[in-house]
Amino acid sequence: MDGRDLVRSVRAMGTVRGLRAARSAWRQRRTDAEGLPARGPERARVPGAVQGAEPLPGGGVIRFARSELRIQVAEGGMVFWGWDGAAPEPSYALDGVPPAPDPRVELEPDTDDGWRLVSERFTVRVFRHGAVEVLTPGGIVLRRDLPPRWWEPVRGGPARWLQRSETPADARFFGLGGRASGPRLRDGVYRLWNTDPKKAFRPADDPLYLTMPVQFTVADAGTHLAFHDNSWEGRVTLREGEEGAGSGHDRPGSAEVRMDGGPLRCWVIVGTPARVLAGWTQLTGRPAVPPSWALGPQHARWGFGSEREVRRIVAGYRERGLPLSAVHLDIDHYDGHRVFTVDRERFPGLPGLAKELGEAGVKLVSIVDPAVKAEPGNAVYDSGVAANAFVRDGRGREVRGVVWPGDCVYPDFTDPGARRWWGGLYEERLAQGFSGVWHDMNEPVSFTPFGDMTLPRSARHVLEGRGGDHREAHNVYGLAMARAGYEALRRLRPNERPFLFSRSGWAGLQRYGGTWSGDVATGWPGLRASLSLALGLGLCGVPYSGPDVGGFDGRPSPELYLRWFQLGAYLPLFRTHAAIDAGRREPWEFGDEVLEHARAALAERERLRPYFVTLAHLARMTGAPYARPVWWDSPEDRVLRDCEDAFLLGEALLVAPVLEPGADRRAVRLPRGRWYDTATGRAYEGPGQVLVPAPLSRIPVLARAGAVIPVYGVGDGGEERLELEVWAPAAGRTGGGVVVPDTGDGWVRAVAERYASRRVDGRVVVDRVTSGGRAEPRRPVRVRGLDEPGAGGAVDG
Ligand code: NOJ
Repeated sequence: MDGRDLVRSVRAMGTVRGLRAARSAWRQRRTDAEGLPARGPERARVPGAVQGAEPLPGGGVIRFARSELRIQVAEGGMVFWGWDGAAPEPSYALDGVPPAPDPRVELEPDTDDGWRLVSERFTVRVFRHGAVEVLTPGGIVLRRDLPPRWWEPVRGGPARWLQRSETPADARFFGLGGRASGPRLRDGVYRLWNTDPKKAFRPADDPLYLTMPVQFTVADAGTHLAFHDNSWEGRVTLREGEEGAGSGHDRPGSAEVRMDGGPLRCWVIVGTPARVLAGWTQLTGRPAVPPSWALGPQHARWGFGSEREVRRIVAGYRERGLPLSAVHLDIDHYDGHRVFTVDRERFPGLPGLAKELGEAGVKLVSIVDPAVKAEPGNAVYDSGVAANAFVRDGRGREVRGVVWPGDCVYPDFTDPGARRWWGGLYEERLAQGFSGVWHDMNEPVSFTPFGDMTLPRSARHVLEGRGGDHREAHNVYGLAMARAGYEALRRLRPNERPFLFSRSGWAGLQRYGGTWSGDVATGWPGLRASLSLALGLGLCGVPYSGPDVGGFDGRPSPELYLRWFQLGAYLPLFRTHAAIDAGRREPWEFGDEVLEHARAALAERERLRPYFVTLAHLARMTGAPYARPVWWDSPEDRVLRDCEDAFLLGEALLVAPVLEPGADRRAVRLPRGRWYDTATGRAYEGPGQVLVPAPLSRIPVLARAGAVIPVYGVGDGGEERLELEVWAPAAGRTGGGVVVPDTGDGWVRAVAERYASRRVDGRVVVDRVTSGGRAEPRRPVRVRGLDEPGAGGAVDG
């Protein structure tokens, strides 16, 4: 660091924080210089030639001259392989014990000294120099992993490794956690290192807060997910393939995974997108169902500043008849930014405020930052010291960083004892009247004018008793914090489902809660990035997320705010939020016209609440995200695979947000079948592209013919009731849907109701599908789309 860094630091963060950050950056560099000796010379290694094999249930161990490969097919359509003795455990990603090996699968000799595993959904071939292929039952290659390569420091220490895989030339890549440039991941290098991007991010910014080594690959031959279970820093280099236009000279796609250390082990799950997500969430845990109120509209901002302001905003919603489920308090309600404290001057009676809002149906959610102000007398710090809960360096000193409150220490969430201590602190939040938590800054962040804004890589971690350093613990820090929070909330409020969402995380975060965009830049590109993040995370098993509506860092134009609001209304976490200096986000701050259109979006969200509740439960039952790419049911449709500006909300709806200024219509790519514009009732036939009206008052939402959607309607006595909105199947076609009625915010088991729709003599008939056959639907039915104006054929182009 030189004088320029110091000036930059002071400019960006103000004098005191800037000086502190600069000092802390120096300190970190020194800690790493002492704690992590240079790697020195390295020796390269490849597996060498095959020498023999030993069967195990579902597979076996194959020995090579310089490594061995353990490979096993597990139940649920997945295969695990690990080099150099790597086994599925220990793992931060897995939910409990790994799935049982598939006893029907045996290691069989293959041609050319290789080996083969044949299972129901795929075949795996292992070649004599260590390449591994996964093929469809019909023999088409889904992926080929070339023999890995290691670089081992001669003086000892973790080996770096590289594994290159090839995929069909037509394959498209998705996933890798939350990426702003997706959802389809173009050629490039994607870093695996959870990172606060230091400023509000745009589509080109990478990496962000929540990365994971999960590749979701879609090709004509099939869909698969590959997970390299390794939390070390890494990079994935993607290159899409090229087809040789019938010349037979296709160039395959490739993905190269490089890791700075840690085990070389991989899970591959094969199937339709739905089966892949079912397998993935069987492996890493089904998504937690948020309490039902967390599926309603929420309002946050950094800098409400006082209880009075919170009341004013909640009253603003009420006076205008706008629904509101929750208000989120950011760090400005803390005393001097110290976590688990309250500024009693500006928030003198939080429990009272929470009660008052609760009576009006509005919950309070609290931000929770992991960094604790390192200051004797700060009760949280003192109790953490007593519990020996903070991260230390190799010489046993507390590792210090700089965050909002100043010099801070960091709980080691990879230590079960520290998790328990931390969890106990949530009692204070509950006593203040909060109903949920919002984990922030947990990459974890330490401000610095240069380099990575996090802890030194040499910082020591307990890692569940195995011991290790920040190189291994960094990417799972947010995940382990989520575990601490989730387990605490379950312990402290056993009758309520926790509400937790977290900026950082890793594979398996969904077991504990959701996430959000983080600081997405205000602007049209940020709006697009919002959609990319939600879709990519859903494919990685984390279905509950959503953006800062309006963008985090600037003042959106009324049009941009409205289009963001309209998109947010169809994503699981629907929340307005902004930085302290980024203007307002209340729907009435952008003029009367915006207010009226925002009111309509809010009303539609409320009407669809039973559908969101259903989708939340279906995510838990099946792993399917609420918001899915449009190719979800037809991954073989190449045109859909490249469609990135729309999404399916469950099975029934196709949402086409407006992502550009000045639009009053937009082109929408339809999957096959009939789709109704829910606003005009007009029917369109897919597959193909149609031009649909998109006035400022709404974004296009299309319903699949035959869909049965649970919505709130109004009964004869004016009471709100659950109804089935049924979109007429096309003649000769059938349809259906699932309804999971809301069982409240506790743990009462939700039971799915299944419905089927058909068309009989021009009428639409809806049946409840029961184990005994068909029955009358239990709910009032409202049919739509029967008299569709001009069932327009799809217009291409
Ligand atoms: C960063 C978070 O991403 C943002 O949402 C929050 O407002 C600020 N930290 C302040 O807490």
